[in-house]
Amino acid sequence: MEERKASKRCGGVLPFFIGFLLSCIIGWAVIPPLFYQEVEQPLRFSHQVHVEGQGMYCDSCHYFREDGSYAGFPSIQQCAECHYVDDPEYVMEAIVEQVGEDYEAVLDLPEEEMPEALVELVMSGEERDRKAELDYLVKFAIPGKEIPWLNYQYQPDNVFFSHAAHQNLVIADLKEMEIDLDGVTVSKIEEIEESDQNCDLCHLKGIATNDTPPPFERNIISGYSKMTMKMWQCERCHAQMGQVNACYVCHK
Ligand code: HEC
Ligand code: HEC
Ligand code: HEC
Ligand code: HEC
Ligand code: HEC
Repeated sequence: MEERKASKRCGGVLPFFIGFLLSCIIGWAVIPPLFYQEVEQPLRFSHQVHVEGQGMYCDSCHYFREDGSYAGFPSIQQCAECHYVDDPEYVMEAIVEQVGEDYEAVLDLPEEEMPEALVELVMSGEERDRKAELDYLVKFAIPGKEIPWLNYQYQPDNVFFSHAAHQNLVIADLKEMEIDLDGVTVSKIEEIEESDQNCDLCHLKGIATNDTPPPFERNIISGYSKMTMKMWQCERCHAQMGQVNACYVCHK
């Protein structure tokens, strides 16, 4: 009698428990990713090739303008310091002669069949890099179009963020102050390298050393990036650093 009772009770709890677990799994692991759409950057740009390979400094592409504002992404003019196209019209004519007005179709040809005027501009050695560089030349440099880079940290228009206000945040100081940045920084603060660059505090880990930019995860409802820093994250650091958190500081 006792035994039957026990198993009956168990039979009542177990399905509940399984259902509870299932809804947790669906709620945490299955549904949230469905809200994000992965979008590729418009170009496979390798930080590794340029920073490690070419020995470039970060601030040759990401720098402060004279008025203190942040240049953000480099323009194709900065790229042209090395990827120089002497006579873009001439190259474009050669491409159009080969494939017609739909000039991007030239990218589908094997390199041997591309016009000489285009191929001789390519500096990369590896096949994968040559492909990316041709992409860059044909889609942007030659027609003179800016590259619509996707900003992983994209903030809505009503939020004011200034890199200049944050350039003196030193990782070593933050570690010393033992401030709690759990969930604010992508990596734990103890694990962030104490380089002179503090970008890793807010940006995707390893972005400056990667070979291929990671896909941009766009929230299909809000349009925000998955990486967009949330209000509480900004406020947590501000509160601990004695920075006022009045609404007008960040919302203009
Ligand atoms: C040759 C130009 C160039 C150099 C040099 C360069 N970057 Fe970049 N950086 C880019 C481009 C182009 C992008 C946009 C594509 C991407 O996200 O990879 C970018 C994106 C970034 C982003 C991401 C911004 C976002 O959307 O969240 C960070 C952070 C960054 N770079 C940091 C660095 C650091 C740190 C260095 C030095 C170690 C560096 N970069 C050197 C061109 C450059
Ligand atoms: C300091 C000179 C220099 C600047 C500035 C520069 N590049 Fe490059 N880039 C190179 C060289 C050299 C290579 C070939 C490297 C190799 O294969 O060893 C290269 C390779 C590439 C490639 C193929 C490898 C890859 O990254 O996928 C692309 C695409 C590219 N560059 C785009 C850009 C863009 C976009 C900019 C501007 C934001 C830029 N480059 C700025 C020198 C430069
Ligand atoms: C305190 C946090 C924080 C730090 C530190 C930081 N960034 Fe950003 N960064 C942001 C935010 C937030 C945005 C988005 C701004 C927007 O969309 O208005 C951004 C945007 C960018 C962009 C995209 C273009 C633009 O200007 O909007 C680049 C490139 C960038 N940061 C590079 C860097 C580099 C390089 C470093 C390190 C030297 C760095 N950031 C340090 C928070 C930070
Ligand atoms: C890791 C810590 C940290 C994070 C994260 C951070 N901030 Fe800050 N912020 C600071 C500090 C410290 C200052 C004060 C700098 C100074 O006065 O020199 C500051 C200053 C500012 C200022 C300038 C205030 C003024 O009076 O000029 C603005 C605006 C701002 N932050 C916006 C933001 C926004 C928006 C975010 C999130 C997207 C953010 N911050 C994330 C530490 C942080
Ligand atoms: C330290 C910077 C900071 C301060 C201070 C701040 N906010 Fe924000 N706020 C943000 C950022 C960043 C976002 C966008 C990211 C998000 O939605 O979390 C945001 C988003 C919002 C949104 C949602 C808007 C949208 O489009 O999603 C509202 C509403 C808002 N803030 C109201 C306030 C009010 C009210 C205050 C004062 C009590 C305040 N904020 C103070 C940084 C700040």
